[in-house]
Amino acid sequence: MAENGSLNGTGGQPHRTAPAQNGKAYGFVDHTFDVVVVGAGGAGLRATLGCAQAGLKTACVTKVFPTRSHTVAAQGGVAASLGNMGKDDWRWHMYDTVKGSDWLGDQDAIEYLVRNAPQAVYELEHFGVPFSRTEDGKIYQRPFGGMTTEFGEGPPAQRTCAAADRTGHAILHTLYGQSLRHATEFFIEYFAIDLIMDEEGVCRGVVALCLDDGSIHRFRAKKTILATGGYGRAYFSATSAHTCTGDGGGMVLRAGLPLQDMEFVQFHPTGIYGAGCLITEGARGEGGYLTNSEGERFMERYAPSAKDLASRDVVSRSMTMEIREGRGVGKTKDHIFLHLDHLDPAVLHERLPGISESARIFAGVDVTKEPIPVLPTVHYNMGGIPTNFHGEVLTKKDGDPDAVVPGLMAVGEAGCVSVHGANRLGSNSLIDLVVFGRAAALRCAETVKAGEDQPELPSGAGDNALGRLDRFRYADGATPTAELRDRMQRTMQSNCAVFRTGEVLEEGHHKIHEVWKASDDIRVTDRSLIWNTDLIESLEYDNLIAQAVVTMDSARNRTESRGAHAREDFPDRDDANWMKHTLAFCDTVDKTITLEDRPVHSYTLSNQIDYIKPKKRVY
Ligand code: SIN
Repeated sequence: MAENGSLNGTGGQPHRTAPAQNGKAYGFVDHTFDVVVVGAGGAGLRATLGCAQAGLKTACVTKVFPTRSHTVAAQGGVAASLGNMGKDDWRWHMYDTVKGSDWLGDQDAIEYLVRNAPQAVYELEHFGVPFSRTEDGKIYQRPFGGMTTEFGEGPPAQRTCAAADRTGHAILHTLYGQSLRHATEFFIEYFAIDLIMDEEGVCRGVVALCLDDGSIHRFRAKKTILATGGYGRAYFSATSAHTCTGDGGGMVLRAGLPLQDMEFVQFHPTGIYGAGCLITEGARGEGGYLTNSEGERFMERYAPSAKDLASRDVVSRSMTMEIREGRGVGKTKDHIFLHLDHLDPAVLHERLPGISESARIFAGVDVTKEPIPVLPTVHYNMGGIPTNFHGEVLTKKDGDPDAVVPGLMAVGEAGCVSVHGANRLGSNSLIDLVVFGRAAALRCAETVKAGEDQPELPSGAGDNALGRLDRFRYADGATPTAELRDRMQRTMQSNCAVFRTGEVLEEGHHKIHEVWKASDDIRVTDRSLIWNTDLIESLEYDNLIAQAVVTMDSARNRTESRGAHAREDFPDRDDANWMKHTLAFCDTVDKTITLEDRPVHSYTLSNQIDYIKPKKRVY
């Protein structure tokens, strides 16, 4: 047990005993690495692999076994303009991504993403990802929502590279295998508690709890890369795994740093009704379509060109409108049907085996014969930890909106680089993971000298993390974590949903702040440190609630409609006043939020493409 202060873990150095907390002393197991990556999903593993390849001593700290990370659930594919199944161009991919983002994406970062995408996919192929193939052996690519040709003027692009409908699974397993080929040290089932920040605002590492034996580890590193994923579990119904609790975002807020664009929460049009599990957009890419209670293919009315392959925010809103206007299906007319029953069963078997199985298990539906009951379901956070396209975390400091936080980086869904702006296009997430995971590793290779001496940690380094751990471990209030979490999730689900109004957000603001305040009365019943799920769920809840409050308050503040943020009281995009990123700072002690903003980067990286000027977004 950590309490006796006598532990040493893998690769650890003799511990130092931290000040007594609640009458108990905790011991640290100390480690020094060039780079520590927190999280082992697609972005975390790609960053880990890249750092190790560059000869940097790299640790990957993860709360779940790497191949259980949420990337495993990504189905439909990874976007890159390979042009294997029709003409394509990175500039068209860029145009689609900027338009998809509703002009809130940073165009320098978007150019970086789409230009590096093909190379990143070929790299995955060479690493061993078992992509589906065309007749002539090339990587198979399917259409996805919002992906077009000829700057939106041509037919849909076939740009999404797929390994059947298990692309995330294939990528994650391959990257983990590749990481093991290099000298990476994995700390598996270690829960990151807090960052170590010094007085100059430099990130010096992270403190984590080993779930298996209760030891507490202090990782000192030149760079700490947060790859902790999204916080979908702030909502009641989400395609996200229960582990998606935004642990990196929570740590960043507690460090006094901002989160960006948190009001933009993506609802995936096709979560299975009731269960919330994902049915990939690839299902519509392969020819699936949505119908209402009248059997009408209603997307033809809302998006005459792209129809069922309009971008996700558009499809989710259209489905919600059909349900509101009484044309939902089912006994209570509260969902929509997704048809695949007209497709050749051989195609379903070859291209969509995973969702055929999910539909059978979670909806009791044979997709070759019946439609799948679906509903827009929380799927992705466009917002997150602000970074530049190297993955370096940004804050607003002394008037500089792009001030780099030394030592701290963020990638993947945890980060907000921002390539997705107000709405992400399907299959742009997996490519974001690998392109920016790689970019972060390249930046580490450029800026960190392998094995270079690091200054001693300041005295008391990590005590913030111990204090936090101890506070929750001995929390003896009256309200169980599960009750607080349920209140938070229901509030977010009903007051910060697909459509929003000032009134509903105002109510949501009061309700979510009440839940936040009530969190002081949290009760944890298990006091142990070993596999204490009560404690871990409480630490996760603490991360979630701060981000839920930030999300609600950012949404209440933004009086326009843009991408996934659809205000019925402000139905139009307002570029004059709102073409800017929201930055939210959170005082987690006083429980207050401060909102600021940051300009959108309205410039590209090179002269090979001009800034894509805003225009009306129609599909
Ligand atoms: C899907 O396959 O629809 C999910 C993948 C993504 O969100 O990009």
